[in-house]
Amino acid sequence: MTSLFDPIQLRDLTIDNRVWMSPMCTYSADPSPELAGRPTDFHVAHYAARAAGGVGLAIVEATAVAPEGRISPYDLGLWSDDRIADFARVAAATRAGGAVPGIQIAHAGRKASTERPWAGGGPIADTDENGEATHGWTPVGPSPAAFPGLKDPSELSTDDIAGVVAAFAATARRADEAGFDVVEVHAAHGYLLHSFLSPLSNHRTDSYGGSLESRARLTLEVVDAVRAVWPAGKPVLLRVSMTDWVEENDGDDRDSWTVAQTVQLARWAAEHGVDLVDSSSGGNDVVDIPRTPNYQVDRAAVVRAESGVPVGAVGRVDTPERAQALVAQGRADVVLLGRPLLRNPSWANDAAVELGANPRFIQQYAYTL
Ligand SMILES: Cc1cc2nc3c(=O)[nH]c(=O)nc-3n(C[C@H](O)[C@H](O)[C@H](O)COP(=O)(O)O)c2cc1C
Repeated sequence: MTSLFDPIQLRDLTIDNRVWMSPMCTYSADPSPELAGRPTDFHVAHYAARAAGGVGLAIVEATAVAPEGRISPYDLGLWSDDRIADFARVAAATRAGGAVPGIQIAHAGRKASTERPWAGGGPIADTDENGEATHGWTPVGPSPAAFPGLKDPSELSTDDIAGVVAAFAATARRADEAGFDVVEVHAAHGYLLHSFLSPLSNHRTDSYGGSLESRARLTLEVVDAVRAVWPAGKPVLLRVSMTDWVEENDGDDRDSWTVAQTVQLARWAAEHGVDLVDSSSGGNDVVDIPRTPNYQVDRAAVVRAESGVPVGAVGRVDTPERAQALVAQGRADVVLLGRPLLRNPSWANDAAVELGANPRFIQQYAYTL
């Protein structure tokens, strides 16, 4: 029986437990042009604390591959080489805490150019009350269809799409240079890659729209481009939304993204070099999601069983017992935690103690605890 605190091997990398920090935006970068996208002391302290708290892998929040790919002006972004040194500080601090440093690379697509959640999260108007330009921009998407309540995106041309693929690859190359050992491609939550996958948001008639194969083309091109620059011994993860939560709603018969399509995507992604599918859900429409404990994990278990690809489960797995059960029962290979780690950076070490496993205290604490 596999335990939550057993190591897991992905390619040449051994991660010493299966409690991982889920990527979570902190919207804490300085938005001024010179500093935009760069991690600050806040980010270093934030990730170092969770690493020292015992997680096996800490995945840095959605990091934009281009300025227009940020959700808000306060997001992290690694779109230029002169930002590598700032990210290297985060990777080093995470490693010093004993965790493997990972990073999620992302493009927000049609959900870009919004205010921070604590400022309401609404779209940033292009001009202010005096007609002056603001710090917002026009988002991009597969089609001109807006996410409900957000700005109309401009449709990406095939040349633009090639630029997005190249931006993901260049960002992955920089992340490797910054010292990250795991890269996660963000294809979930209604952001650019998910918006291409789902027929809810992708109305294209060219080779990037229509059939499942065509809608998945961009995500697989990104995976290929990332794999081409990312060292063969280091893992690539893919975060997906397993469902748009539309087919689950009685009476909503719109074509949407489903678990069955996710299973096929997971198989293709593995053939293209993805090592684990981080299985989240939703984000591509305004729909009711029943956020009960473990609310996504049954679907993750289906994706794992039917695709044969290693899977991470996430979503209100907030007790050590439930996390342990998911791994022990073979329903997930790893568990990712979001909010529990905001409340308690040492969740993983506390869980290890509770489950009778070895906590991973850093030397500075271990001798006295
Ligand atoms: C504040 C916050 C920021 C988040 N930012 C991201 C993100 O950058 N990338 C991502 O894939 N998911 C993001 N998520 C989703 C989390 O990674 C996680 O999947 C979700 O919170 C469910 O897990 P939990 O119940 O353990 O919090 C965010 C969630 C929260 C609460």
